[in-house]
Amino acid sequence: MAAIVALLFVAVIFSVSSLGNALSSNYYDQTCPQAESAITNAVKKGMMNDRTVPAALLRMHFHDCFIRGCDGSVLLKSVGKNKAEKDGPPNISLHAFYVIDNAKKAIEALCPGVVSCADILALAARDAVTLSGGPTWDVPKGRKDGRISKASETRQLPAPTFNISQLQQSFSQRGLSMEDLVALSGGHTLGFSHCSSFQNRIHNFNTTQDVDPSMHPSFAASLKNVCPAHNKVKNAGATMDPSSTTFDNTYYKLLLQEKSLFSSDQALLSTPNTKGLVSKFASSQEAFTKAFVKSMIKMSSLTGGQEVRLDCRVVR
Ligand code: HEM
Ligand SMILES: *[C@@H]1O[C@H](CO)[C@@H](O)[C@H](O)[C@H]1NC(C)=O
Ligand SMILES: *[C@@H]1O[C@H](CO)[C@@H](O)[C@H](O)[C@H]1NC(C)=O
Ligand SMILES: *[C@@H]1O[C@H](CO)[C@@H](O)[C@H](O)[C@H]1NC(C)=O
Repeated sequence: MAAIVALLFVAVIFSVSSLGNALSSNYYDQTCPQAESAITNAVKKGMMNDRTVPAALLRMHFHDCFIRGCDGSVLLKSVGKNKAEKDGPPNISLHAFYVIDNAKKAIEALCPGVVSCADILALAARDAVTLSGGPTWDVPKGRKDGRISKASETRQLPAPTFNISQLQQSFSQRGLSMEDLVALSGGHTLGFSHCSSFQNRIHNFNTTQDVDPSMHPSFAASLKNVCPAHNKVKNAGATMDPSSTTFDNTYYKLLLQEKSLFSSDQALLSTPNTKGLVSKFASSQEAFTKAFVKSMIKMSSLTGGQEVRLDCRVVR
């Protein structure tokens, strides 16, 4: 009897905790009121030395949330035989981990063991957008850090070669809609891509076409110029848009001109619904930022962790 009661008790606890952590805007108001300004300072400092820091932080947060929820798993380092996410295949775009480390160090000095690495990353991604000229918003907090990070799970990230149905599947598995997909793809207003991520569109597209015919010819020619078929330059690539350090709606304007880098960007034009949203965001910066904020809050509320790490690179 006692065993059954104990089992029931465990089952109830398990089902409650599997609902995830309840997030709230004022989560650290009593326990660490200075946390947010410490993070903003670390992001500002990082940006002063390196203009690519905001793009890195935004991409890092997306990557974190899409694997095991936003639980800081992207920040963990490999241990022994376990290769972590950050050492998995699509990791060329991941950098600027030191900004999160600096924020964590500052926060640990203020309020030890209280603020999760997952929350620090979510807040740093928001600051990255705001400090690049984009909108600001209240980030719900209270995420916990996860203890598992596997390189093999980076396969769960959507690939730049995905078509619209593959993108839809990837997003809907995480409770995200087609509107979330179009709005969050606007993150591609910031940053840089390596040749390998759009190689499929500019060389040997298929057996009859060398270049993706849905890519603007002069744009394709300029990309082929920086990314020849047998590219030897390690960090060759292209900026996401010419204003790649400014958070604006240029991405959608270029997309309508068929000047986007990835098949997954171009794919947003392939259904009337998603194409309509692209047109709406291209013609209204306000409509874009409103939708982006709503979708960021949704994506960053996918929680999954259990603890608060002391060092963002290692489990407790
Ligand atoms: C829709 C599915 C998505 C796909 C297939 C995708 C794919 C990619 C790829 C292939 C790169 C370039 C990696 C490289 O070659 O260096 C990249 C960069 C980037 N992505 Fe996405 N992405 C997606 C969604 C998102 C979302 C939701 C966000 C954030 C809201 C985001 C933000 C970024 C940023 C900021 C960069 C630039 C990173 C840097 O410059 O360091 N992406 N993405
Ligand atoms: C990406 O993975 C490789 C191979 O595991 C590793 O050597 C490299 O340091 C990783 N890059 C980042 C930015 O973590
Ligand atoms: C997308 O790609 C998948 C896998 O290659 C394929 O089965 C599917 O038919 C494609 N969908 C569209 C709309 O092209
Ligand atoms: C190559 O791609 C073009 C454009 O998407 C398409 O019209 C054509 O049918 C494709 N050819 C083959 C052999 O798949």
